[in-house]
Amino acid sequence: MTVAIASHIEVKTGILIETLRAAGARVLVTASEPQSTDAAVIEALETDAEIECFLEADMDDEAWDVAQHKLLERQPDLLFDDGCELIAKAHASHPEAVDTAIGAAEQTTAGVTRAQALADSGALGFPIYAVNDTPMKCQFDNVHGTGESALTNLLITTNTVLAGKRLVVAGYGHCGRGIARKARGLGARTTVTEVDPLAALKAHMDGHEVAPMAEAASTDDLVLTATGNRDIVRGEHIDQLPDGAILANAGHFDVEVDVATIEQRATDTATPTPGITRYTLADGRRIAVVAGGRLVNLTGPASRGHPAEVMDTTFAMMAAAGIELATSQNPPPPGVHSVPPSLDRNMARRALSVRGLEIDSLTAAQREYQERWDHPDAY
Ligand code: NAI
Repeated sequence: MTVAIASHIEVKTGILIETLRAAGARVLVTASEPQSTDAAVIEALETDAEIECFLEADMDDEAWDVAQHKLLERQPDLLFDDGCELIAKAHASHPEAVDTAIGAAEQTTAGVTRAQALADSGALGFPIYAVNDTPMKCQFDNVHGTGESALTNLLITTNTVLAGKRLVVAGYGHCGRGIARKARGLGARTTVTEVDPLAALKAHMDGHEVAPMAEAASTDDLVLTATGNRDIVRGEHIDQLPDGAILANAGHFDVEVDVATIEQRATDTATPTPGITRYTLADGRRIAVVAGGRLVNLTGPASRGHPAEVMDTTFAMMAAAGIELATSQNPPPPGVHSVPPSLDRNMARRALSVRGLEIDSLTAAQREYQERWDHPDAY
């Protein structure tokens, strides 16, 4: 089969692509983010005639767009997406690719949200496995991968100590929870902003301050967004930020920090060190934006994405979902679907096993105790 993959093309993704090749696929490769590509990985992949790359390192947004359309003209059988970009472009402009595709697997939260919007509009033409939402992905990659790699890259790029600093984490979903928990472990004073009352209550009970952004922005040293939404730090908040505030984003799209408004209001712009743009505002306050407001753990100068120890399970679940779509006797209808739970459990067992970890098994008595509603030992 021909499998298209749009992702951050760096070393771990290279291994997924080699895995798909080992399973017999011809692979068409493009980027899910124009700035996150590792040129050495493209060079290595291009030595295989059955892998075709539709990307370059450091593409601008227009070249990235053109490359994805070229890929879709090839009508791949399966789509592995990260941000729903290929899926959306196929539905907007390549009806023939939608007709011939068996289905897709979507890797990230923002992509699943977009895929669901496509399904809700009635236009979705094939099944999509929401790989992001499966526990083996979001409870590990988003919490621990983003939690650690977003902070690590933010701190390395800015050469900042977190201990004693005030950090605002916008969004307390999987990523935000991981970021806030780990930041507090490093000694930061954490404030969470949310729009979901349940998530906000969870943040409060986990021991973080909870406040609206309009309040939090006025006192905090650093703001890290992880909402999957737009305009989280916007004009009214920019007015409040203290001198020296640092802004960064871990969400998939570069729309969480309104960089365009900061640029408009700046009287001076400087790049004191790679990966940091420092804006001086009319009143003299200086605001630093890391990695241009793009994914801080994937597009900064020191960024290498999540470590392999957490991407292994994400990409294993993407491959497993793709194999399920390709081989199923009863493929799911067009729509956004949960990954079958058995795939998750099998992958969890394998992940434990490769880490040399063992767990207990239920005894026969324990199993019977769980299965019988009228067990004599219940009461
Ligand atoms: P999630 O859906 O679990 O959490 C997002 C949270 O943000 C929700 O609790 C929601 O209520 C909140 N939120 C939405 N609008 C908000 C607003 N205006 N102000 C404050 N909070 C708001 O999503 P998850 O899994 O945490 O992903 C967040 C983003 O990170 C997505 O864009 C996702 O694609 C991306 N992501 C990035 C990764 C990376 O490597 N940097 C890895 C995995 C996901």
